[in-house]
Order: sequence, then C-alpha cells, then structure tokens
Amino acid sequence: MAVVRKTELPLPLLHRGKVREMYEVDSGTLLMVASDRISAFDCVLPQPIPRKGTVLTQISRHWFGETADIVHGHCLAAEPDRIVRLHSELEASREAWAGRGMLVERSEPFPVECVVRGYLAGSGWKEYREHGTLAGEPLPEGLREADELPEPRFTPATKAESGHDENISFARMRELLGLNTAEILREFSLAVYRFARAAARERGILIADTKFEFGTSLRSGEILLIDEVLTPDSSRFWPAETWEPGRTQPSLDKQPVRDYLEGLVGDGGWDRNPPAPDLPDDVVRATTERYLDAYRRLTGRELPDYDS
Ligand SMILES: Nc1ncnc2c1ncn2[C@@H]1O[C@H](COP(=O)(O)OP(=O)(O)OP(=O)(O)O)[C@@H](O)[C@H]1O
Ligand SMILES: [Mg+2]
Repeated sequence: MAVVRKTELPLPLLHRGKVREMYEVDSGTLLMVASDRISAFDCVLPQPIPRKGTVLTQISRHWFGETADIVHGHCLAAEPDRIVRLHSELEASREAWAGRGMLVERSEPFPVECVVRGYLAGSGWKEYREHGTLAGEPLPEGLREADELPEPRFTPATKAESGHDENISFARMRELLGLNTAEILREFSLAVYRFARAAARERGILIADTKFEFGTSLRSGEILLIDEVLTPDSSRFWPAETWEPGRTQPSLDKQPVRDYLEGLVGDGGWDRNPPAPDLPDDVVRATTERYLDAYRRLTGRELPDYDS
C-alpha cells in the first residue's frame, strides 16, 4: 500500500497544511487530500503513517453522512468511483488521491474555529486550573483533568497565522461574525458534537473535544460544515476503557508516537524542538493499527482498500 508524504496533483494547489493539501477542481469545487503525515508536539514527524490519510478522510465522510440532518456539509463525494463520475478529469490522477481525497463544495470559511469541549483537557484544563473558568465562563469547583463537564461547552478560537490558535470569548465571536451567525454556528457545533459523542460512546470512544469549521457556500450562500469533521486530527479521542480522570488520558490514535517521543525526551535524546526525530518501524506500525482501529470502532466497518 502506497504511503504518501506529500501529494503533487496536476491541479492548482490552494493550500498545504500540516497534514492536508487543498486543490482547486473548478471554481465551485475543491479536492481535499489528506496525506499520511503525522504531527506530535507541534512538529511534523519525518515518517508518514501508512493509511492515516485515508482513515482521516473516510472518518470525516462517515460523520458528514451521519450529521447531514443537523447541518449540510461540504462533502460531495469521497468514494473514488463517485468522484470520477462527477469529475472525469480526475481519473488520470486517481492513484494519488483515491481514498484520501474528498471532493468538496468550495466555501468562504468563517474566520473562527468552533471548538466544543465535553471533557476537561488541553488548553481548557489549563484555563480551568489557573482561573476556574472555561472560555471565561465559570465552571463548578473541584473538577479534575479529563473530568466530564456538566454540559458540553462551546469555546471558539481564532486561527493564528502561526503557532497555536487563540481562544476567544463568545462575545468576541459575535463581534467578528455578527450575533446571528455566531449563534447559528454555536448551535450547529453543539448539536453535531452531542450527536457524535453519543454515537462514539456506544462504540467505546470518548470524544473529549473537537473543532469544527463552517463556511458560506459559494454556489448557494448556505452555511456549510466544512474542513474535516470529528477525525482524530480535529478531535481528542480517548479509549473509553482506560478513561480515568485525574491524569492526562492516552490518545486513541497517537499514543505510540507520544510514548516514544516522551521516552526520548526523558533520556535526553530530544529537546522537543524541531526537527523531530525518526520513528522506529514498530512505532509506525503500531500507530497505523491505532488509526485503523479508530476507523473500525467509529464506523463498525473495516477500512476499504482503495488502491485496488
Ligand atoms: N469547503 C471549503 N472551502 C474553502 N476552504 C475550505 C473548505 N474546507 C476547508 N477549507 C479550508 O482549507 C484549509 C485547510 O487547511 P489545513 O487544515 O490543511 O491547514 P491549516 O489549517 O493551515 O493548518 P493545520 O495543518 O495546522 O490545520 C483551512 O483553512 C480550511 O478553512
Ligand atoms: Mg486546519
């Protein structure tokens, strides 16, 4: 199975992120392609993780289908035969994107990341520990790291040009987008999160938090759920069976990489600054297995082999 560090499709490249490439197919349509790159501790690692890109794209596709009743998504197709039926000119480059590529409706993204948190982790836990609040709003006293919140909270952020996103208050989001739009995006975000959280929990996965993006369709003007949805890269997924508040939880997907890198840091073999060190083969293999397991658990199916 081909492992893909970077795609070079014969289409205009609009954006290359840490993990994904965005290509223009026509004025209203994009091809979003997830590579097998993996990042940890804010560094992209030298070794790609076979099948990771396909897992990401196909998990997103699963959720776009499941949540279409709540909000329309930008996904037009993620199944290679369907993509080629819609855009036959993509047949020639099929091998490079099959499985990892999603054809999407182009939109004008809103400049706010719509984060929903159901559990205390990451920057949410840090804010609570320091100030007793989450996105500036008080929370009950005595919560531990990884505790479930009484109710999911919407904690928006703005995209920083470099480095970490900046958390903002809902009041600030209203100033940026207008009252109506801000409230609509908050309601969509909470509704999709609640739905997915319940579905994932039945399959042994806790969705601690996640980030959504929305945009205005260039074709219809409708608000769409865009980008990737409820993937391991946009969310914190925890295995339900090892959940234990009071400590940092193991990650469903990246834990082998984290453990290896933490070990190196502990032994003085890496200082957490780029460039990141090489990953041994067994760590790469174990990580692929985790991604495949995430796909299997969330969808109840094996990941199809799109190469054949
Ligand atoms: N349907 C869409 N129409 C237009 N732009 C979109 C659509 N879906 C997603 N995008 C945009 O495509 C970009 C994808 O970027 P990507 O997430 O790969 O990298 P990044 O956000 O720059 O950095 P990082 O790798 O840290 O996430 C985002 O800016 C997102 O808003
Ligand atoms: Mg992004």
